[in-house]
Amino acid sequence: MKVTVKANANIALTKYWGKKDDKLKTPWNSNTSITLDGLETITTVEFDQKYTCDIFILDDKEYLEGTDEFKEVKEQIDIIRNKSNKKEFAKVVSKNNFPTAAGFASSASGLAALTYAGCKAAELNLSTKELTILARMGSGSASRSLIDGFAIWHAGETSEESFASQIAPKEHWPEFRILGCVISKKQKKTKSRAGMAQSVKTSPIFKVWYETAESDANKMVELIKEKNFNEIGKLAQANCILMHACAMTTNPTIMYWQPGTLEVIHKVLELQDEGKEIYFTIDGGPQVKIICQEKDVVEFKEILNSLESVQEVIVCKPGTGPRVINEHLF
Ligand code: PMV
Repeated sequence: MKVTVKANANIALTKYWGKKDDKLKTPWNSNTSITLDGLETITTVEFDQKYTCDIFILDDKEYLEGTDEFKEVKEQIDIIRNKSNKKEFAKVVSKNNFPTAAGFASSASGLAALTYAGCKAAELNLSTKELTILARMGSGSASRSLIDGFAIWHAGETSEESFASQIAPKEHWPEFRILGCVISKKQKKTKSRAGMAQSVKTSPIFKVWYETAESDANKMVELIKEKNFNEIGKLAQANCILMHACAMTTNPTIMYWQPGTLEVIHKVLELQDEGKEIYFTIDGGPQVKIICQEKDVVEFKEILNSLESVQEVIVCKPGTGPRVINEHLF
C-alpha cells in the first residue's frame, strides 16, 4: 500500500536542547510549540517486494547508504518494520516547501510525515500518543508536529511518559502568527542532534538551561490557555536566548546566528522599545521567527522586508497535525 501524508513544521515557544537518555531519546526538559500552517513536508511511503533495498529521495535528490539523511530515514523505517512485522523494503519520497535543514524545523515536519505515512503504509494502527512517541525516536521536535495547534512534549522519565499532547487546538487562537524570516538558505554547519549532545557534555550552563526551560514550559502552557500574548512573546524570547547561550557556551562553540540574524534581533528590540507587540525566537539555524498577531502582520512584514539581510518573509498561521492526501509523489 502506498500512503502519502502532509505534515506541518512547528516552532518551539519554549525549547528542547539536550537528551537525558540517548537510547530512549527523552529530553532533559518539557517543551512547547505551535504547529505552523505553511511550512510543510509531503511524504509518500510504500513497502513492496519489488524493492531490493530501501530508497530515499528528498526534494528530487536521492540519498544513498552512507549519508546522514539515508540513515535517519532508515532508522525510522526499521522501527516501523519491527513494530509491524513487515519484511519488505520501502521507498520514501519527500518534498519540503521551505529550505531543508536550515533552521526551519524540516526534521520536525519530515519525521512527522514519515512516521505517520510509514505507520499507515505498514498497516500499524497507533493512537496519536503512540505516534508522538515513535516520531520522538526520529527527531524530538517531530513529536510536536503530530499535534494540531499548540503542543507540549512532556519530558517524562520513561519512554511511555515522554510524549506530545495538545495544549489548545488551532481554533483557540486563529489570530496568532509566526513570520519566518529567511536569512540564509544554506544548510547549517552543526545539526541539532550532534550540537545538543555536545552541549549536554560541555556547556557550563547546561543545568541552568534545562531547569529554567522546564519551568518555562509549564508557564507557557498556562499563558497559552489564557491567550496572554505579550507574556508568551517575552517568555519565548527569553527562553530562546538562554538556549542559544547554552549552544554558544558549548565546546566547540555552536554559533547559529549570522550577522543577518542580529540585524533582525536589533530591529525587533527597537520595535519593542516603541511599544510594538513583536517578539523573536530562533531554532538551530540563522532564521528568525517573529511572534506576532494578525492585526500587525502587514506592518511588520513591510519593516522586515526592508532589512538588507531578509531574503523572504513567510507568514504562518496555527496549523493542523498530519493528514493523508491522495496525490502521491511517485
Ligand atoms: O528535534 P530536533 O533534533 O530537530 O531538535 C530541535 C531543536 C530545536 O529546534 C533547536 C529546538 C526545538 O525544541 O525545536
